[in-house]
Amino acid sequence: MSASFPVSDSSSSLPSVAALDPRAPVGIFDSGLGGLSVLRAVRAQLPDEALVYVADSLYAPYGERDDDFIADRTLAIGEWLVAQGAKALVVACNTATAQSIALVREKLPIQLIGVEPGIKPAAQQSKSRVAGVLATRVTLRSARFQGLLERHGSDCRFLCQPGLGLVEAVERCDIGSPELRALLVSYLQPMLDAGADTLVLGCTHYPFLDAAIRDIVGDRLALIDTSVAIARQLERVLDQQGLRSPGRPAAPLPRFCSTSDGAHLKQLAATLLHIDTPVERVHIPSRRTVTPDSHAA
Ligand code: DGL
Repeated sequence: MSASFPVSDSSSSLPSVAALDPRAPVGIFDSGLGGLSVLRAVRAQLPDEALVYVADSLYAPYGERDDDFIADRTLAIGEWLVAQGAKALVVACNTATAQSIALVREKLPIQLIGVEPGIKPAAQQSKSRVAGVLATRVTLRSARFQGLLERHGSDCRFLCQPGLGLVEAVERCDIGSPELRALLVSYLQPMLDAGADTLVLGCTHYPFLDAAIRDIVGDRLALIDTSVAIARQLERVLDQQGLRSPGRPAAPLPRFCSTSDGAHLKQLAATLLHIDTPVERVHIPSRRTVTPDSHAA
């Protein structure tokens, strides 16, 4: 199953690591439910870590928002997680990483790990030298993504398709309806027709569609999975900082938080991750969401 490629740039403005507690939680954030695909990999890799997950579902999807809105929300949620005691932050959202990780990294006193579409592994693996990329419009138009293509795309042809409607489907827990399937066919068939043999899932929501995608493409497309790589990158960062949690008698349940009612977060976590735990509704104001017309991007 495929997600995205991890990025972790070092920051010189971090406080001394002695100020951070290895028993503190790792914050994981996404515009909505997609980051649960990253949380799943983190739990498998680092079962002793306490996790706080924030779904900004009230404002999802980010993929059609303007850049300032995404940066505003990413910073506000990052600051909120720092206030909750997080020792590191996984920005489990390609769109937020693409638009705002550099800016937010400057302003937060903890290490950030972001995610990027797996262009490099796709270019390494594709035999036909044609690969599809599904990601949000914001991710695809970002300078960060264009830089990835320039650095790693080399002789591979990438067919970049905005996954319009896919985040919304996952947000309502639709991972296999006939309408969703028709949407996926309209995105994937042109890739198959063009000879693609690889598909980059450049949005953390899309791994939850892997069964529907498989149903359409069979084994004609290799799905690039990098959520495990993100978890390993988090492990490296925690090790470098001496911040790995001490062993615990039992793997702690994540703390789930949502800016909306959290019903779909609870449902998706229970059905796909087998984690049955309450979801807290949290209010995380930000500059762009404090006014009455806040829902306008
Ligand atoms: N999971 C987010 C990503 O990886 C979805 C962005 C959105 O809300 O549109 O890009």
